[in-house]
Amino acid sequence: MRTTVGIIGAGPAGLLLARLLHNAGIASVVLERRNRTYVEHRQRAGILEQATVDALRAAGAGERMDREGMPHHGIELRFGRRTHRVDFPSLTGARGVMVYAQTEVVKDLIALQLAEGGPLLFGTEVTAVEGADSDSPTIRYLHEGREQTLACDFVVGCDGFHGVSRHAVPTSARTTYERSYPYSWLGILAEAAPVYEELIYAHSARGFALASMRSASVSRLYLQVPNGTDPEEWHDERIWDELDARFATDTDPGWKLERGPVTSKAVLPMRSRVTEPMRHGRVFLAGDAAHIVPPTGAKGLNLAAADVIVLARALIAWRRTGSAELLDTYSDTCLRRVWRAEHFSYFMTTTLHADPAQSAFETRLQLSQLERVVTSRHAAAELAENYTGLPLPH
Ligand code: APR
Ligand code: PHB
Repeated sequence: MRTTVGIIGAGPAGLLLARLLHNAGIASVVLERRNRTYVEHRQRAGILEQATVDALRAAGAGERMDREGMPHHGIELRFGRRTHRVDFPSLTGARGVMVYAQTEVVKDLIALQLAEGGPLLFGTEVTAVEGADSDSPTIRYLHEGREQTLACDFVVGCDGFHGVSRHAVPTSARTTYERSYPYSWLGILAEAAPVYEELIYAHSARGFALASMRSASVSRLYLQVPNGTDPEEWHDERIWDELDARFATDTDPGWKLERGPVTSKAVLPMRSRVTEPMRHGRVFLAGDAAHIVPPTGAKGLNLAAADVIVLARALIAWRRTGSAELLDTYSDTCLRRVWRAEHFSYFMTTTLHADPAQSAFETRLQLSQLERVVTSRHAAAELAENYTGLPLPH
């Protein structure tokens, strides 16, 4: 088989790239290791930055998002038993975010790809990418038990944290920057109305908690837990009691988390990682294949979208003019914005979580920083601009 752009991975990065290329008349093939049901039900974050919302609409993939997604204009920061609102439009010049789960974005893009786009092969495991330095890199993959090859003009590795495409960049040309965190998140879905109309990020001596949502009747909630926690240690009542304690819902008699059946429960590790550069020869990396953020700032999906928007533009320019200029600047262009999001995610994570080794002094610094965010317009604007997403590069 032969194509113009071989895309490894059908997460948000691979699927959006395939859509953007299809709309510009550029052929691609998407190879995905898992089956469709698995990919469509993998629980991930659910906050879309303004630029991601705009890109999905422009790509013709925004119809259900606009119908079912929930536009949000701020978040609540809860600490010291009080809630403080950060208002996005007044701080950022009318920007906001959309609460619409990654699972739904993925379902919408898969349906479009299967109806109108090029081949999207599930159950297809890529084993190697060869010839990155040549004019025709090749993807080796296993499909229905047989090894096959896909010859391409370009290969894009959108194969996430556990992918293989990163290894197409020789070790001598690749640098990885990493940080781990001494805590994880226990994430649950519950059939219970959200406690409040906006997301609540809570700092407490017992650890971090986050109240998010999937709809008017389904809550998505997170608790900081020690690394290595078995989700089975957390039975439903224990989860609800701990959420009540961390949100300090006893401060107001009318304010209580509605309890309901917990339908999914999983422990998610937290890490930061960037691999540089995001390109070697004709192989490009995008999304989690190149960089990971801890989920506290909800940046993972948005960074993946930004990468492929920049890359699609570069491939379209190459096709129309023959110029490789934008392909040559792809990695640097993306990495500037990636590092800003890495810093923001690190800031949100370390300011809101209780590190088991932290001193009382460090806890006071966290509280002082949070106080600063909610009392200084400049500090609040810094958070709001990063949360709603910095503008995409021109
Ligand atoms: N062959 C084929 N497919 C592969 C291979 C392989 N060897 N390795 C991984 N994949 C697939 C995975 O099964 C997955 O569907 O690549 C896809 C990568 O998708 P994501 O992990 O969703 O990564 P990405 O598209 O970059 O999206 C980033 O996902 O992890 C979240 O928080 C992150 O929201 C962000 C988003
Ligand atoms: C989610 O809704 O899953 C979510 C929201 C905000 C975050 C992380 C996850 O910061």
